Amino acid sequence: MTRVKVWDAWVRLTHWTVAGIVLWNLFGPTDSVHRLLGYAAAFLVAARLVWGFIGSQYARFSAWWPTGSHLREYVRSLVDGTPLHHVSHNPLGALMALLLWLLIIALGVSGWIMRLDAFWGEDWPQEIHTWLSIALEVCVCVHIAAAVLMSVWTRENLIKAMVTGYKRIGKMSR
Ligand code: HEM
Ligand code: HEM
Repeated sequence: MTRVKVWDAWVRLTHWTVAGIVLWNLFGPTDSVHRLLGYAAAFLVAARLVWGFIGSQYARFSAWWPTGSHLREYVRSLVDGTPLHHVSHNPLGALMALLLWLLIIALGVSGWIMRLDAFWGEDWPQEIHTWLSIALEVCVCVHIAAAVLMSVWTRENLIKAMVTGYKRIGKMSR
């Protein structure tokens, strides 16, 4: 086993800042702070997406893009009870990361549309914003449960790694 720096400072900073904002916006008041933080989260996600092209090795899309064959292989390993160990995101985690980012950006856009004069008196932008927030809530619950479950199952503390940036890498890692 060797210790490898997997998550650079920008990945960790965007993760925990966006997580904090999302939790605040899901359960806090919907005031001007909500709107400002919502845009900030969407902006941080956009910056993280750029980082997916120019960032450090394991932050890049090329290190973890969840292709169909990677997903099938990973799901098969879960069903067999011997989960493959990935240095960057595993394919299911990667799919969830993309979904979480998509929802946060869509919340930013729907929040903006909601406040435009052009849609004054219309209910649908608000309804979309609410449905997106419910979808995000469900995905965040699955995400946190999966991070805890996989940390226990594989004895690799993924949450600590998202804090320190380091993971333990064995021979079987990819
Ligand atoms: C509440 C809102 C949250 C959101 C929107 C969120 C979103 C994300 C996203 C988008 C990633 C990919 C990070 C990247 O590549 O830059 C990620 C990774 C991760 N998140 Fe969260 N997260 C949240 C909360 C949490 C919490 C509370 C925990 C801890 C219990 C957690 C644990 C992790 C871990 C361990 C990873 C890395 C997984 C791996 O090793 O592949 N997240 N999260
Ligand atoms: C991380 C991003 C965001 C999340 C998680 C989020 C979440 C939520 C939630 C849970 C609600 C309450 C929904 C309800 O009770 O039906 C809400 C309402 C609201 N959001 Fe957001 N939001 C985000 C971004 C934004 C942005 C960027 C804006 C506007 C610039 C915005 C403006 C509003 C407004 C005005 C309401 C009140 C709507 C009403 O009174 O029915 N949100 N948001």
